[in-house]
Amino acid sequence: MHQHHPRPHVHDDSVESVGKNPHSHSSHGVIPASAETWDAMYSGREQYFSGGANDALIAEAAGLPTGRALDVGCGEGGDALWLAARGWQVTGVDVSSVALARAAEAAEAVGLAEQVAFEQLDLTTAPPPQKSFDLVSVHYVPLPIGDAEGIRGLAQAVTVGGTLLFVTHDPEAVARRIRAEGHTHAPDPRDFHGTDSVAALLGAAWEIEAHDSRPRSRPEHAERDHPDDVVLRARRLR
Ligand SMILES: C[S@@+](CC[C@H](N)C(=O)[O-])C[C@H]1O[C@@H](n2cnc3c(N)ncnc32)[C@H](O)[C@@H]1O
Repeated sequence: MHQHHPRPHVHDDSVESVGKNPHSHSSHGVIPASAETWDAMYSGREQYFSGGANDALIAEAAGLPTGRALDVGCGEGGDALWLAARGWQVTGVDVSSVALARAAEAAEAVGLAEQVAFEQLDLTTAPPPQKSFDLVSVHYVPLPIGDAEGIRGLAQAVTVGGTLLFVTHDPEAVARRIRAEGHTHAPDPRDFHGTDSVAALLGAAWEIEAHDSRPRSRPEHAERDHPDDVVLRARRLR
């Protein structure tokens, strides 16, 4: 099931970079665990991500008919703006108000504010509305493995015939890096949902259309931190 979709890389970064201490902006390898720590991560840099769309989104969504899209953990809005520019009506949700403010500013700057709405939402506490989105896209969002309801909520937000796209960094590679950097108290990336656990929760109402790992295309980034994406694309049958 390995497919490769080499693309010009347009996106940066990952689940990383700030310690559990919300005032720390410099350490690597620890996964933020709250709105405050995500805010602290974003506040540590003027712009955290590249502003472009993720490789896997470009590969998997380019061929879909446009409609309503939900970008979960949208960060600074790179994916949401890419979708909006291609005709999707997009809702971007995130726990971080710092990221959401940047995303809204970016949408204004490129004249897409009418096509995209950004809202604060914590997926672990509040599900999105059911059967409301033709595409639910989740890139690099650490959702606790014990929270099956959060994933079911995302799946239920997809319309019949619609697509769930769930993308993570290769969790084994991230775990290795965290160990190598000596973050002995860091959460293990394998404690968060990955494509296998999400696929297992979907059940018979879904068809898995893609489930594979593939290299990310920007070499300097890939070599540094997160060389491979693991991608799940599933279509809701009923
Ligand atoms: C690694 S960043 C990825 C951002 C964006 N998807 C991208 O690819 O650039 C993960 C994002 O998920 C958000 N996030 C983490 N936990 C969340 C939750 N429970 N509900 C909603 N957003 C969450 C963070 O604030 C952060 O913006």
